[in-house]
Amino acid sequence: MAIERILNTQSIEEESNEELLEISLRPKTFNDYIGQERIKTNLKLSIDAAKGRGEPMDHVLLFGPPGLGKTTLASVIANEMGAQIRVTSGPAIDRAADLASLLTNLQDGDILFIDEIHRLNRSVEEVLYSAMEDYAIDIMLGKGPTAKSLRLDLPKFTLIGATTRTGALAAPLRDRFGHIHRLEFYDPSEIAQVVERSAGILGTKIHKDAAAKLSTRSRLTPRIANRLLKRVRDYADVNGDGIIDAVTADLALQLLEIDAIGLDTADRMLLNTIIDNHQGGPVGLNTLAAIIGDEATTIEDYYEPYLMQVGMLERTPRGRKVTHKAYKHLGKQIDQQTPQQKLV
Ligand SMILES: Nc1ncnc2c1ncn2[C@@H]1O[C@H](COP(=O)(O)OP(=O)(O)OP(=O)(O)O)[C@@H](O)[C@H]1O
Ligand SMILES: [Mg+2]
Repeated sequence: MAIERILNTQSIEEESNEELLEISLRPKTFNDYIGQERIKTNLKLSIDAAKGRGEPMDHVLLFGPPGLGKTTLASVIANEMGAQIRVTSGPAIDRAADLASLLTNLQDGDILFIDEIHRLNRSVEEVLYSAMEDYAIDIMLGKGPTAKSLRLDLPKFTLIGATTRTGALAAPLRDRFGHIHRLEFYDPSEIAQVVERSAGILGTKIHKDAAAKLSTRSRLTPRIANRLLKRVRDYADVNGDGIIDAVTADLALQLLEIDAIGLDTADRMLLNTIIDNHQGGPVGLNTLAAIIGDEATTIEDYYEPYLMQVGMLERTPRGRKVTHKAYKHLGKQIDQQTPQQKLV
């Protein structure tokens, strides 16, 4: 019963129009890239240093919840380095030979971007170790007792890896990155800037107070801010004069059933399920997944980071727990009895 979510942080691949818009809204330089100031300062410094030495920069690992700007940042880095970027993803590289051919086709200074790097399989990952460390790979020629290993030198490239989960990354891989940056949720004021910038690119007028409203309803995530902006723009085009003011934004958000802190029906269902069926928790991740009909990894990647960020949900060693704040937000009474007491 997975619900089609407007707040879905996944990029919508099947909707090519949306995809094209997402590309046009994507910042190209550090100047357009809003927020993440600490990461930008660090990266700018390394880029300047690398350029000064005429060398590629160290490998970069970017991690954090979906939609916060990892892919965007990778292309910004390439742009600022004046480097070519090759884009691939963990699941797309099936065999070690695929990676070898990717690597040998790079040129000095190129950037290789591997999205979802935690999903590389083991044999591929091992090839990456020596590629990252020594700019060389060992390939096996032939099979059986006559097989020979041949060392191939690679161009000096920079690997940028992106992942929503560093926990899933093997330590030897993680350790080979010179820069490891965790992208944080944005401040509402930064999201308001994202909204205003995107409205400018889309050629839509939006009032300041309407942008402020969207900024607190977008899960502090640029991708969602852009998506909500487009939906609100549709609403303003159909029901008004196309200008987005606070009232229009409010009405459109009500229609989308997004509440004051940016939760949608799927979030509220998740929280209500824990409260109604499990006395507020703790409840195991897999049980939760089974009840709400979504994958455990989807819950971990798409629901939980924001629910935890706004203090609605806690992870405990025994499972997920709803907080008092969540009861209040949902207008529910906190049941003081423990489940055991209830049974008596
Ligand atoms: N710092 C930013 N400033 C302005 N817009 C941004 C910023 N970061 C991201 N965006 C916008 O949000 C959209 C989503 O960002 P991006 O695709 O880089 O996220 P991601 O972290 O790679 O997500 P995923 O984990 O799903 O791959 C981009 O198309 C871009 O328009
Ligand atoms: Mg991405």
